[in-house]
Amino acid sequence: MTTARDYAEVNPLFARSDEPGTAPRHHLPETGLNQEAAYRLVHDESMLDGNARLNLATFVTTWMDDSANRIYSEAFDKNAIDKDEYPQTAAIERYCWRMLADLWHAPDPADTIGTSTTGSSEACMLGGLALKRRWQQRRRAAGQGVDKPNLVMSSAVQVCWEKFCNYWDVEARFVPISLEHKVLDGFDLDKYCDENTIGVVAVMGVTYTGMYEPVAQIAAALDRLQQQTGLDIPIHVDAASGGMIAPFCQADLLWDFRLPRVASINTSGHKYGLVYPGLGWVVWRESSLLPDDLIFRVSYLGGDMPTFALNFSRPGAQILLQYYMFLRLGRAGYQRVQRGSLDVARFLARSIQGLGPFELWNDGSDIPVFAWSMAAGQDRGWNLYDLSDRLRMRGWQVPAYPMPDALQDLTVQRIVVRNGVTMDLADKLLGELRSAVAFLDAHGGPRGAGAAFHH
Ligand SMILES: Cc1ncc(COP(=O)(O)O)c(C=O)c1O
Repeated sequence: MTTARDYAEVNPLFARSDEPGTAPRHHLPETGLNQEAAYRLVHDESMLDGNARLNLATFVTTWMDDSANRIYSEAFDKNAIDKDEYPQTAAIERYCWRMLADLWHAPDPADTIGTSTTGSSEACMLGGLALKRRWQQRRRAAGQGVDKPNLVMSSAVQVCWEKFCNYWDVEARFVPISLEHKVLDGFDLDKYCDENTIGVVAVMGVTYTGMYEPVAQIAAALDRLQQQTGLDIPIHVDAASGGMIAPFCQADLLWDFRLPRVASINTSGHKYGLVYPGLGWVVWRESSLLPDDLIFRVSYLGGDMPTFALNFSRPGAQILLQYYMFLRLGRAGYQRVQRGSLDVARFLARSIQGLGPFELWNDGSDIPVFAWSMAAGQDRGWNLYDLSDRLRMRGWQVPAYPMPDALQDLTVQRIVVRNGVTMDLADKLLGELRSAVAFLDAHGGPRGAGAAFHH
């Protein structure tokens, strides 16, 4: 006798009587589907996402090896906050941030403090909160007001810093970048800092262009300010990308805890830390720089668990993956991977410059990221948005966007090279770029509504 179950199994997929044509999107369905049909619906819809290998817009890891995938699948269910149930995941988290403290030259690795986070955004929030709380404590102890904190940074910071200032009522003071000062470099810094400045953010790997901000120069400008005014303003280094590039590829560059003014550093484990999305790190040069009253201790998971995080529950698997990568690659392996990406970035930058109509903003030699604009006097009847659209038609994501505030009339296009963007793939992209430029030269860009929309 044929059972209903057999019947479902012999029926062709996509053509069964219980196969829903469309999935509900705005209400929870009254009844469920069978496991396979539900899987198909979710799997097939997500297939319509872009192809990660052709996405040169993202910094985030899209490839890990099979052993990493095994660790991931063994740890899907681990909750990072549940340190009593998963004490070894908690211990591995500590190994990881201690290794980072050491990599970033913390003066006394035994007296640093750090934590994992969901990404650099959360890590920056925590770094910023520690700056704000320390400033408040200093001011209160001196009987001074604490109602007007400000944070000084470049106009090209990542949006997480604008969020930090907005969410935590801190005035954001942006030093505009310009053609003369392409990054925050200490110029005019004294005009932006005062007794209410909780800190200065220096970015190692500006999101818009990939350039490093010269942290040592910024620190020197703040040293001068301290000599003149007595103000002692700490630096938080947002090394979301550069924190895992500079130690391996620009080891002599002074940007980390070797500079006494650097109080805290964040990086994204899921960017050049080479782990799948969902992981950031923040480390303080010494534990006294993280005020104790920001740390919560909870007992309801068992034990006495200190936590400094915005979330409570979150996946623990990425922490294990980071430790796996540290063990798997070591310094030498990270150096090889990152150098490989830098080689591809520099090759692509040179070749794109050679195509003719473009001018490089930078050449991909800080982090493996670079941007370019249309060269002066190149009015070819199309722009970088048109070029981005043409590439998108072939599946490549190479975004074009305006630079921040004082330079917002300048449009740039950016490529992020990450592990997995091989020379071979770079060569194919160049082929696509050449044909896109030839097409646009021959036919012009889609002038009219589309172009108007872009500006
Ligand atoms: C300089 C910088 N800071 C912070 C972030 C935010 O990082 P995440 O995406 O890990 O939250 C980014 C992301 O691109 C970044 O480039």
